[in-house]
Amino acid sequence: TSEETPNVDLITLTRHVLSDQLRLGSTATGDLTLLLTAIQVTSKFIATNVRKARLINLVGLAGETNVQGEEQKKLDVLSNDIMVNALRASGKTAVLVSEELDDAIIIEDGYKGKYCVVFDPLDGSSNIDAGVNIGTIFGIYRVRPDSTGTIEDVLRPGSEMVAAGYTMYGSSANLVLSTGSGVNGYTLDASLGEFILTHPNITIPSRGKIYSFNEGNAMYFHPPVTAYLKSIKFPAPPKSPYSARYIGSMVADVHRTLLYGGIFGYPNDKKSKSGKLRLLYEAFPMAYLTEQAGGIATTGTKRILDIVPTSIHERCPVFLGSKDDVQDLMKFYKETP
Ligand code: AHG
Ligand code: MN
Ligand code: MN
Repeated sequence: TSEETPNVDLITLTRHVLSDQLRLGSTATGDLTLLLTAIQVTSKFIATNVRKARLINLVGLAGETNVQGEEQKKLDVLSNDIMVNALRASGKTAVLVSEELDDAIIIEDGYKGKYCVVFDPLDGSSNIDAGVNIGTIFGIYRVRPDSTGTIEDVLRPGSEMVAAGYTMYGSSANLVLSTGSGVNGYTLDASLGEFILTHPNITIPSRGKIYSFNEGNAMYFHPPVTAYLKSIKFPAPPKSPYSARYIGSMVADVHRTLLYGGIFGYPNDKKSKSGKLRLLYEAFPMAYLTEQAGGIATTGTKRILDIVPTSIHERCPVFLGSKDDVQDLMKFYKETP
């Protein structure tokens, strides 16, 4: 027949996370599973809105009025509202930090749980109007013992996160998740409305052939970055130069780096003293996933996951990807003045 026999034993995200919890035995209460369920629902909802964006007036700036006189809602504001509502309603959260909100949300008593979620509801906003891949990034901490949930619970190193992930809204929606024992990728089957395990145990190749930097900032780059980029673009023969790929959505650039290898970088430079990417909800979750996939994530001189944040929206330089490639870069930081 022309039809292929369907797989009759689908591993959904929920099933996969649940089996993880069963493996952990009685110590696991199932709360993290429920929280991750809430997060996957927000991803499905955001994915739907991304797809419909052009039809239902989501493109454009918040606060603008369309020809019918209706207020337009920017996709990242909408995505933020979707996440805040769902995470609060899950009853599993205590503190929420969103790129879109100046202050952390401390969840009120009736809804309070024991997890803190830091998130970038819509990453890659400059790509929305062009229909290029965008995503959602999240990281999860458990409140410290005896804490009822304060900002201190999220001002902790990324290595203390209990889970991190992202969903990329592209030709399909892909959710990539780590709960601390490897990285798995799930693809949304739109007909089922379920994320299906399609990329079990993602591991980054130890070396890649792609570099991903916004070289439009080259005139501001510090010497180690300039020297490193020169070394991969003008290698000593018989080595071939690297290929450039830069989408400008961290989610999409990191997704490609996890699957194909290579190096993604957003350095600090003479203009952006701390770089551009946000530590809590961009650098930490992506660094967590990178390390869990066998790669390295560094500021150039120190491990990203070791940084202790002092404020929720602070920035940090980011280089991540294949072990050998990132080590090459780090050598330039050691050797170049
Ligand atoms: P956001 O859309 O959440 O503000 O994040 C944009 C970030 C990140 O996705 C990307 O890696 C970077 O900004 C791109 O910056 P440039 O346009 O400066 O290259
Ligand atoms: Mn972002
Ligand atoms: Mn964003």
